[in-house]
Amino acid sequence: MKIGIIGKGNVGSALAMGLSRAGHEIKFGHRDPKEPVAEAAKWGEVIILAVPHGAAADTTKAVGSAADGKTVIDVSNALTENMELAIGFTTSAAEEIQKMLPKAHVVKAFNTVFAPNQSTGKVGKEQLASSWRATTRKPSKP
Ligand SMILES: NC(=O)c1ccc[n+]([C@@H]2O[C@H](COP(=O)([O-])OP(=O)(O)OC[C@H]3O[C@@H](n4cnc5c(N)ncnc54)[C@H](OP(=O)(O)O)[C@@H]3O)[C@@H](O)[C@H]2O)c1
Repeated sequence: MKIGIIGKGNVGSALAMGLSRAGHEIKFGHRDPKEPVAEAAKWGEVIILAVPHGAAADTTKAVGSAADGKTVIDVSNALTENMELAIGFTTSAAEEIQKMLPKAHVVKAFNTVFAPNQSTGKVGKEQLASSWRATTRKPSKP
């Protein structure tokens, strides 16, 4: 699958590593004019927004109608630069992004996992939970 990743920092790079290993194609969009956000968004069948919460308005504006009908994954934690809660408790970062991209299908994912673990899907030797594991692994004994 073609995945446009907006943001080439800790999370964007880590997810690109893991997704490439799984056979997906990646195109980055960020502030480097050689890798424009609009181009990555248009190219991607799925779009991952891997930018700080404060950049959501700028990046969704650049993504624009390229996201129409596509799944957009928001990885952000809604924090200010001082690491304080930026929004809540009546809305969320993903809900605000959904309002900015009304014809996209916005979902939240990966935000509770540190970037170094996103590239491997593991913490130490422990495989991180996924929907596949959640539905197939045997329940642990009490
Ligand atoms: N770091 C983690 O372990 C972690 C874990 C879970 C969730 N998160 C969340 O993931 C998001 C990204 O975190 P990060 O650690 O990857 O941040 P980061 O390393 O600072 O990378 C941010 C990326 O966003 C890009 N960017 C910023 N403003 C932009 C704009 N206006 N237009 C286009 N691109 C823009 C930057 O572009 P340039 O390349 O041009 O500078 C950079 O590539 C945050 O919302 C954070 O809360 C982080």
